[in-house]
Amino acid sequence: MFNKNNNNYSRRRFLAQSGLGLLAFAGMPNLLNAMEGMGAMPKLPPHTANPNFKADVEIELFCKPTSVAILVGQQTQVLQYSARLLHGPKEAVTEIPGSYLGPIIRLQKGQKVRIHLHNGLSEPTVTHWHGLHVPAEQDGHPLYAIDPGEKLVYEFEVLNRASMNIYHPHPHETTAKQVYHGLAGALFVNDEEEAALGLPSGDYEIPIVIQDRLFDAQNQLVYVRHMHDRMTGFYGDRILVNGRADFQMDVDSRAYRLRFLNGSTARIYKLGWDDGTPITVIGVDGGLLEKPETKPYMMLAPGERLDVWADFSGRAEGSQLVMRSLAFSGVLPKMGMMMNHGGLPVGSDYPIFTAKVTRKVSDSPKLPNTLSSFRRYAITDTANPNKPVPIAISEAHMAMLLNGRPYAYNDVQDIERIPVNTVQLMEIFHAHGGGHGQTTANEGQEAGHQGGMGMGGMRHGGMGGGMGMGGMRHGGMGGGMRGMGMMMAMAHPIHLHGQSFQIASRSIANGNEADYATVHEGFIDSGLKDTVLVMPGESVRIIKPFQDFKGLFMYHCHNLEHEDMGMMRDFLVV
Ligand code: C2O
Ligand code: CU
Ligand code: CU
Repeated sequence: MFNKNNNNYSRRRFLAQSGLGLLAFAGMPNLLNAMEGMGAMPKLPPHTANPNFKADVEIELFCKPTSVAILVGQQTQVLQYSARLLHGPKEAVTEIPGSYLGPIIRLQKGQKVRIHLHNGLSEPTVTHWHGLHVPAEQDGHPLYAIDPGEKLVYEFEVLNRASMNIYHPHPHETTAKQVYHGLAGALFVNDEEEAALGLPSGDYEIPIVIQDRLFDAQNQLVYVRHMHDRMTGFYGDRILVNGRADFQMDVDSRAYRLRFLNGSTARIYKLGWDDGTPITVIGVDGGLLEKPETKPYMMLAPGERLDVWADFSGRAEGSQLVMRSLAFSGVLPKMGMMMNHGGLPVGSDYPIFTAKVTRKVSDSPKLPNTLSSFRRYAITDTANPNKPVPIAISEAHMAMLLNGRPYAYNDVQDIERIPVNTVQLMEIFHAHGGGHGQTTANEGQEAGHQGGMGMGGMRHGGMGGGMGMGGMRHGGMGGGMRGMGMMMAMAHPIHLHGQSFQIASRSIANGNEADYATVHEGFIDSGLKDTVLVMPGESVRIIKPFQDFKGLFMYHCHNLEHEDMGMMRDFLVV
């Protein structure tokens, strides 16, 4: 099932001459322009180990087909990461027994890490360290995808602060499919600032990786069946936590640290306890907040993480608390919701997991008042306070665009060229819809300058639910959903590679307020982020440093079906 149509892909790739010195990034744009076949992904010679790099941790990472028991009855064929620790502390690699998820990788800030990736699939792959600040050539760019049977060596130093990160495949146009079939894992970084807090750890720190999947009658995974599944993103009808259906955890009556990660390809969650207990958030994508925040619920879009303090003390033995995804609206065109299969519509109310108090204990750690401190930038610290770098969301026929273009590896626009060691103000917004074909970078920039709203979205799409209807009118039921405004009527979790960013401001266009009111209290904008959910009609300003490393750093929608349809671009840091 996993080896259909690979030859085509391999044939399209060609080996770049190694003498061209691609790693000297100064010459990269010219080299790339010189390559034929715009859009076709070249294949670079895989890195090998550098004997002068003295690794503190060395891991062999495999990915291959296997089968696991997920539902009752027949096992499910999946793709899985597995790892072997060659050198370093043994907590660096922990298997999750019985799960298709990759082992948990645990690193310390400052460690030097070497990872040997072995491709045991029947198609090209490459692994990306989502959230880590590593050199461009260690970041898992699709340029570095390796063929079946090949090996790729990564070497980097852990520069990040304590945080939960993700490792997952990033090959050109097949990321979503590989992740969906099982390739993903959690990667934790720990540091001294975090250790000094004495937060719950060991058995009291629990990863919660949430994914949705669709199974056939033989318990096999079903993936994209028609264009509509790609346009909206693919949605399953079963919620899995850490690779398990109907996940339940037995807890003591004390405080826990729950580390949430949305590993779904497209599904957005609004997480809340069933009894209305507020949620105490202590961290997001890029690590701990300055101080805890209490929220009625939390939004969690694909690629995002949340660090939650869950205190079960005072709860009776035998009592249960259910984490649910609560009702919300507006992230999909109305039609997308209608056509969504399986009794688990996006934005409906359904359970995620159950925590059951099975042991009464008298002791519990106290929630610290302050958690961490980190460098905070003001708009005046940016190189471009009056001219934000645009990230314009739009669409063309059968493609999804950022800054007016679908992904192409050798296609860096001027606005996508970022001077190294600068801090940039950026603005993510909805641009003109498909009726215009493409939005040019200039239009995008203009909209950015006018300060603060996805104006294209308003002018062309109308408002709220109206956008979805527009999608219907123009696209027609059977017509592949290419209606004007389809993308504008959807929420997009936008992810930027490299260093984490701050969220400076959000603004919502007239007409979208009602839907927005169902989600906006669930945004935690005070921490460091690498993925931000941008709602229909919304414009989000972020402040992002581009320090240390030159080269290509991707930015894309982390709705992985969107990413694979072209909703991805490169920044070239020069
Ligand atoms: Cu988690 Cu470029 O992706
Ligand atoms: Cu990433
Ligand atoms: Cu998207």
